[in-house]
Amino acid sequence: MSVTATTGRPTPLDIRGQKGGAPLVCLTAYTTPVAGLVDPHCDIVLVGDSLAMVVHGLPSTLQATMEMMVLHGQAVARGLSKAMMVVDLPFGAYEEGPEQAFRNAARLMRETGAAAVKLEGGTHMAETVAFLVARGVPVMGHVGLTPQAVNTLGGYKVQGRGPDAERIREDAAAVAEAGAFAVVLEKVPDALAREITAAISVPTIGIGASPDCDGQILVVDDMLGLFTEFRPKFVKRYADLGAEADRAIAAYAAEVRARTFPAPEHVFGEEPAQS
Ligand code: KIV
Repeated sequence: MSVTATTGRPTPLDIRGQKGGAPLVCLTAYTTPVAGLVDPHCDIVLVGDSLAMVVHGLPSTLQATMEMMVLHGQAVARGLSKAMMVVDLPFGAYEEGPEQAFRNAARLMRETGAAAVKLEGGTHMAETVAFLVARGVPVMGHVGLTPQAVNTLGGYKVQGRGPDAERIREDAAAVAEAGAFAVVLEKVPDALAREITAAISVPTIGIGASPDCDGQILVVDDMLGLFTEFRPKFVKRYADLGAEADRAIAAYAAEVRARTFPAPEHVFGEEPAQS
């Protein structure tokens, strides 16, 4: 009996089986309440290392730690009942070799209940992906722009333009052949993402890639307008919650200063029936 049959939630094998089918809907989440909001609508919820930037105000994803991933993974797990949860392996937690990757992936799965981990990198990570999968750790790959490599890539640039396309093709093929159940394609040209999607046997999940990928993912704070430090071209704002929150907080501050909050309905009288 599959895990899906017992929990009703998709497993990595189910996700893999959706290659070429209905588009996979994926978002990040970092907290219990937001996990509860995205859960009914998503196939996959990723506890991304983007939390370093959008939740902790750090300069890049390089500062995410295993402790952060465990803590936020546990919080997100409490808000999910339908979607599959994937947790990112943070920078420095898997690059030394397959054994280090297994140790940290096993910790993420054991302590958060994640169904799978995601790691960045292509051909040079294929051996690690195969090692993890052979030992019971489902892996989501991530190629193209790999933000943990921002310092060697020279910035958050589009990857795979012109002759560089071959490198991205090889990276996607290598992690798929190594056993990844899906591969994130980040910030690669539309045509290349389409070509890779047609070429590999597992779903591609695009972010700044192509509508023809097998699924899409966005950082939830970006699409809700909560993270406004910068806005990559591939982010569509579906709401402006940052502006709405600013309006609400300004109204609260004005009412406190004018002593109009709390109003009579917010304060307690002597009658014991009032709570
Ligand atoms: O960390 C993250 O949020 C990610 C996705 C946006 C793919 O890796």
